Amino acid sequence: MNHILSVNQFDQDRIEKLFNKTTIIERNFHKGSLFLYPNRIMISFFGEPSTRTRFSFERAMYWLNGKVISESNSNLSSSLKKGESFKDTFKTLSQYGDLIVCRHNDEKWIDYAEYSSIPIINAGNGSQEHPTQSLLDLYTIKKELGRLNNLKVMFIGDLKYSRTFNSLIKLLNLYENNEIYTAPAEITWRNDDIKYYLDNDNLTRINLKEIENYLSEMDVIYFTRIQKERFDSNNIESLSNFQLMKKHLEILKEHSIILHALPRNDEISEGIDDDKRAIYHEKQIKNGIYIRVAIIQELLDE
Ligand code: NCD
Repeated sequence: MNHILSVNQFDQDRIEKLFNKTTIIERNFHKGSLFLYPNRIMISFFGEPSTRTRFSFERAMYWLNGKVISESNSNLSSSLKKGESFKDTFKTLSQYGDLIVCRHNDEKWIDYAEYSSIPIINAGNGSQEHPTQSLLDLYTIKKELGRLNNLKVMFIGDLKYSRTFNSLIKLLNLYENNEIYTAPAEITWRNDDIKYYLDNDNLTRINLKEIENYLSEMDVIYFTRIQKERFDSNNIESLSNFQLMKKHLEILKEHSIILHALPRNDEISEGIDDDKRAIYHEKQIKNGIYIRVAIIQELLDE
């Protein structure tokens, strides 16, 4: 079964094909669906809060003229709450539809995807991975900057617990000469997988106080909020004292982009939302719909 559980399943070739398809979908989006899946059902099975990921998947499925069964609180209102295992849950869900989109705080749920007889897409497994978010982030970078190599990318925020960072860093590593900057400098990586991608010459660790010295060189500045729900809040202080503000806009390159998987807390001041480089509220979100149409279509056509 062709699940999408990790970005490790993607290479440059697969990404290029997916992006080509996404571009066609994007061009035709306002005209209505090119593809019809009237009898296909997507089950969105979410056990953690979500606004963009769940709604964009559901919007994407509606664009394909498919149908959606939606569970937004599986921890409380599915039989997981009664002690049912992920194994039994996936065996059951796969009797009701053609595709499952699943998010849960238990990182290990992806190990049970094999018990589903229909494809499962990982929409977040704890702090580990969020493959479709990083694909939409990468698509956004490609579209806005015209390339996926020779980039200087700065990640700022709770990089230890951010699954969007974990997934995107792996994808950026597939391309040549990308320089990665991370702040705060003292962040430790949670798993060996990520250490492998980061412990190399292309990584520069920056203290929060030094961020301003580097901003002018960056092509992409990527923020992530503090994942308060994932750890004891001891080091929240050290993470939370940088905010991107209006004064920083003068330093940034004209052709750079500011991304955020959202939701935003205090990392980015609302004062910069109208700047043309701040593309998290419209372009990045819209790209999330297009890429998910392409992904759903790929899995339903198999
Ligand atoms: C992120 C997530 O859920 O990992 N949001 C998203 O899916 N767009 C980021 C976050 O929760 O901080």
